[in-house]
Amino acid sequence: MIKQAIIPLAGLGTRLLPLTSVIPKELMPINGKPNLEYILDECLGAGIKEFIFIISKNKLSIKKYFFNDNFYNKIIKKKKDIRLIKEFKKIKKYQKMIKFVYQNKPKGTGDAVLRCQKIIKDKYFLMVLPDDLIMKKNCSKEMLRLHKKTRSSIIATKRVERKTVSRWGILACKNMKKSYFEIKDVVEKPNIKKAPSNFAIIGRYILPSKIFGEIRKLKPGQGGEIHITDAIKNLILKNNKFHGNIFKGQYLDCGTLDGYIKSGAKIYKGKK
Ligand code: G1P
Repeated sequence: MIKQAIIPLAGLGTRLLPLTSVIPKELMPINGKPNLEYILDECLGAGIKEFIFIISKNKLSIKKYFFNDNFYNKIIKKKKDIRLIKEFKKIKKYQKMIKFVYQNKPKGTGDAVLRCQKIIKDKYFLMVLPDDLIMKKNCSKEMLRLHKKTRSSIIATKRVERKTVSRWGILACKNMKKSYFEIKDVVEKPNIKKAPSNFAIIGRYILPSKIFGEIRKLKPGQGGEIHITDAIKNLILKNNKFHGNIFKGQYLDCGTLDGYIKSGAKIYKGKK
C-alpha cells in the first residue's frame, strides 16, 4: 500500500510574478481555498497518510499556514466562531500528517525528490505537483488502482494540443488500452518535431524508491536542472515498467497566470 506523498513546494513561481513575490503560489486561493488544500484533499481521498512537503527557507509561510496554533487558539478563545473552529480542526488534522524537508536552491524536481530519500519507507510513493489540479475525479486514487493492477510505476497523462508539447514532459506509448498504456520512453519538453506523441505528463507520479539511485547519477539537464523525467527515462531503459494513466478528471493548469485565473472561474462554475 502506498501511504506517503511527496509534494515539491520549493519552486520560485516565476510564471505567477508579481503575486508570488510575496505569496507562495501553492497558498494562492482558488475559490476561497489555497491551491495546496485541493491537492491534500485529493491525496486524503486516495488513502495517503503522510505528506512530505519540500519547501525552501523563502517559503516558510507554507509552514506557518499549517502550524499557527497560538494564533488560532487566541482568536478562538476570544470569539467562539464556529467556522473558524471547523477550519482549525481541519488544519490540526493535516498537521499530524505533514513532514518538511528543505530544498534551498531550485535545482529541479529530481533534486527535490532526492531530499526525501531518508523519509520514504516503502517500495513506491506518490508525488504530486501542486501546479496541476485535477477536479471531479480523484486522479491519485485512479493511479493507485492501476498500480495495484500492473504492479508498476504510474504517470498521469492526457492528450494535449501538438503545438504545446514543448511545455510538458511527453510520453512515447506502446500496448495502448482504453485508459492506460505502457510507457516506452519520456522526453522533457521536446520541440514539436521531436515529440514522440502528444500524451503529456501531468503532475502525478507513482515512483519506485529505486529512483533515488538513478537521480544521484544524473547530470543537470534542460535549463540546468535535475529532472525527474530523466531519472524515469533511465529506469525505463533498464526495463522497469511504467504505465501512463489517462485520467478521467478535469485538468486545471494553475502554474501560469492565465491558467490560474481560468481555474478559479472553472471551479466556481462547477460549484454553482
Ligand atoms: C513539470 C515536469 C513536466 C510535466 C509538468 C506538468 O514541468 O517537468 O514533465 O509535464 O511538470 O505540469 P514544470 O511545470 O515544472 O515546468
